[in-house]
Amino acid sequence: MRQRFLRRMAHVNPAGGAVPEAHRLAAWQRRSLCGAAAALFATGAAWLAVHYTRSADALPSPAEPWLIRAHGLAAFVALFVLGALAASHVPRGWRLAERRGWPAQRRTGVVLCGLGAAVVLTGYLLYYFAPDNIRPALGWLHAGLGAAMALLVIAHRRGTGHDRHHARS
Ligand code: HEM
Ligand code: HEM
Repeated sequence: MRQRFLRRMAHVNPAGGAVPEAHRLAAWQRRSLCGAAAALFATGAAWLAVHYTRSADALPSPAEPWLIRAHGLAAFVALFVLGALAASHVPRGWRLAERRGWPAQRRTGVVLCGLGAAVVLTGYLLYYFAPDNIRPALGWLHAGLGAAMALLVIAHRRGTGHDRHHARS
């Protein structure tokens, strides 16, 4: 059993010896992360489009409450997945990045954690403490942080190029 597990988790690298496979997320985590990110982005961008293309006296649009309800639902799913990543992906990724010499993964991972905290904090402020004079700026900041996070995840997972190729071959 242990032998089969080790064979599945390892491959022989050109220098000899077994190394663990690339640090993949569990399929359910990857799917829920991508699904929640797509839903957050779609509902957030649609809200911005609806809100900023109407004249002030025609606000709020009837679509806005529904978009924000869907956005809130996706936000709860995202928080759950980020919690799962904090418990397993981050500590394992931290050690693996050290062992395999992937400093870029650590750097982008730490920035991702910071961006995640900032998106959640600005979302919380939008919900509970956003006076009308700062609300638009806070909304744009929140959306910008979310978009930056999505782009950085792509760079974060690409970083291992060579190792990734070996790990999958
Ligand atoms: C200090 C924090 C973190 C560290 C040290 C870290 C480390 C790593 C490492 C070493 C990999 C393997 C690279 C690869 O095989 O492609 C990886 C992949 C990945 N990480 Fe992180 N990570 C961190 C935080 C995060 C966060 C906060 C997210 C999500 C918001 C995230 C999402 C991903 C994804 C989607 C992959 C690709 C996994 C796959 O292809 O299944 N990571 N990370
Ligand atoms: C984990 C990720 C996220 C969380 C927890 C989150 C949470 C929230 C919360 C709580 C609100 C306030 C809802 C209300 O006022 O009733 C909000 C609003 C909003 N979010 Fe997010 N969000 C996330 C990601 C994103 C992303 C990726 C975008 C990108 C487009 C985005 C765009 C917006 C916009 C445009 C608003 C409305 C701003 C306003 O009312 O002025 N969010 N979000």
